[in-house]
Amino acid sequence: MKKLFIQEVAPRDGFQNEARFIETDDKIAFIDQLSQCGYAKIEVTSFTSPKAIPALKDAEAVMHRIRRNPDVVYTVLVPNLRGAERAMSCGVDEVNLVMSVSETHNLSNLRMSHERSFEQLAAVIGEVKNTSTAINVSLSTVFGCPMQGDVAQEDVLAWVDRFAQLGVDGVTLCDTTGMAYPTQAGSLFAAVLARFPNLDVTAHFHNTRGMALANTVTALQAGVVRFDSALGGLGGCPYAPGASGNVTTEDMVHMLELMGYDTGVNLEGILAISRSLVPLIGHDVNSQTLAAGTRMALHPVPDYVRQLQQTP
Ligand code: COA
Ligand code: ZN
Repeated sequence: MKKLFIQEVAPRDGFQNEARFIETDDKIAFIDQLSQCGYAKIEVTSFTSPKAIPALKDAEAVMHRIRRNPDVVYTVLVPNLRGAERAMSCGVDEVNLVMSVSETHNLSNLRMSHERSFEQLAAVIGEVKNTSTAINVSLSTVFGCPMQGDVAQEDVLAWVDRFAQLGVDGVTLCDTTGMAYPTQAGSLFAAVLARFPNLDVTAHFHNTRGMALANTVTALQAGVVRFDSALGGLGGCPYAPGASGNVTTEDMVHMLELMGYDTGVNLEGILAISRSLVPLIGHDVNSQTLAAGTRMALHPVPDYVRQLQQTP
């Protein structure tokens, strides 16, 4: 069975976008449960400005107090040098550096040009490179920007190349507002994997237009083995107009297991955690598998059908 790496982003991409503040103890309990479910990686929080992302203002407390499972890589989102210092002081396994390929979205999200972001992130990479902490770069809006429009594949490849030359371990291609479509996703991932065979490449889809699972399949066919996803389909960038939730972890794992992949994730376990999210966030989750049950969660045969079955 082909092994896949499932990376849970609900505590970061999900909670950053919730209207209700999730209490620190609740965040920690949630992450501690996730740590027992077989994920390869968990994105715990972000070390961003608390003014920009107030929902994650407790990043240090969360990172310090979770119970870490040695089989899980604990990563955090970092937008600048200040964020990297904060992250490193908490002993994270990985820093996930973020910038946008779209200049407009970078200005909206990070309040700086993408060249300025690159300078800052290059300085972070210079510092972190000499440590045991891994470095991933998440490139936002690579399949389109909700303000600027389409993004050329060559532009994406050029940014990946600049980071690859700095020696990062991995790159995540993010569909920030669900603009990716299956043929586009397959083509971009195939191009990146062919050109950068030594990078760990992650697909990060949002389901804004219902294409996230289809995009997942074409990314798989292109050779991607690492997928970000959020339990309950939480997620969204507050600085990207029209953004909505990530691909739902339980729906994605359910599909991938049926297709014969080894996700490592305990589906029943994460379904139970997803159900417990509803009182925590104060609204329904976006989970088709939770609503419908798994494919083999069969329904009782109605009495009249039984009678018909017994009629010779
Ligand atoms: N952590 C904590 N505080 C930070 C910080 C960080 N990583 N970076 C900057 N700050 C603080 C500064 O100390 C300063 O505080 P002060 O007002 O008390 O003096 C304030 O934030 C402004 O700093 P500045 O460097 O001018 O930042 P900015 O206002 O231009 O914002 C970012 C730039 C990148 C810090 C901010 O836009 C940000 O955090 N964005 C993240 C957005 C995000 O996570 N989006 C969703 C994920 S894709
Ligand atoms: Zn996202």
